[in-house]
Amino acid sequence: MIYAFLNQKGGVGKTTLSIHTAAELSNRGRRVLLIDADPQGSSLGWSNHRETADFTVVGMAKATIHKEIESLARDYDDVVIDGPPRVTELARSIILAADIVIIPLQPSPMDVWAAAETVDLVREAQMFNPEIKCCLALNRKIANTAIGRDVREALKELDVPILKSDIGQRVAFAESAASGTTVLDQKRSKAANEIKRFVDELRRLP
Ligand SMILES: Nc1ncnc2c1ncn2[C@@H]1O[C@H](COP(=O)(O)OP(=O)(O)OP(=O)(O)O)[C@@H](O)[C@H]1O
Ligand SMILES: [Mg+2]
Repeated sequence: MIYAFLNQKGGVGKTTLSIHTAAELSNRGRRVLLIDADPQGSSLGWSNHRETADFTVVGMAKATIHKEIESLARDYDDVVIDGPPRVTELARSIILAADIVIIPLQPSPMDVWAAAETVDLVREAQMFNPEIKCCLALNRKIANTAIGRDVREALKELDVPILKSDIGQRVAFAESAASGTTVLDQKRSKAANEIKRFVDELRRLP
């Protein structure tokens, strides 16, 4: 399966969710390739600090990913693509390479508008390949706030499935970014459980 995390907006959690999805799939015994398709190289930076080599991380910020994905993916069960913000040509190529595009966003009205832009790009690509799936994932949700519910309501108008497994605002995610670790290294933490549920849901998608 090829999972692409994409949103034209910066800082919504593409890299965080890419790394954690790759790590959780790898913990489940899958052979995983993480492609850092962002010229900023955040996933690669993270992997430079990582002590274990549980999955492979490569950099490829080129708008030819969709042409090269077949040979890149050959030796792996799953591929996770960490997409860039803003760069539209690269985003188009990533969408065409993906089986499923996951659009992370934070619970704020600005993020709803930005997600709509990315959804439009996916719809364009679906005209070439109707098999490409798409879903929205709420990240950095603060527990027991009305805004999470309001954003879900506002997102309905995009007509794209919203994952049920929200990811909360947790300092453990920010800490893991700098240290080459993941929240999964602390088994049974709330953050680790959220990621496990998130990956369960991704794998169950029809
Ligand atoms: N659930 C979370 N809880 C706390 N901090 C988070 C969470 N998700 C992401 N962050 C932090 O928010 C910042 C932005 O996240 P991240 O780098 O994953 O976003 P991005 O979409 O990849 O950004 P960019 O568009 O620049 O590539 C990082 O510092 C990250 O550690
Ligand atoms: Mg990133």
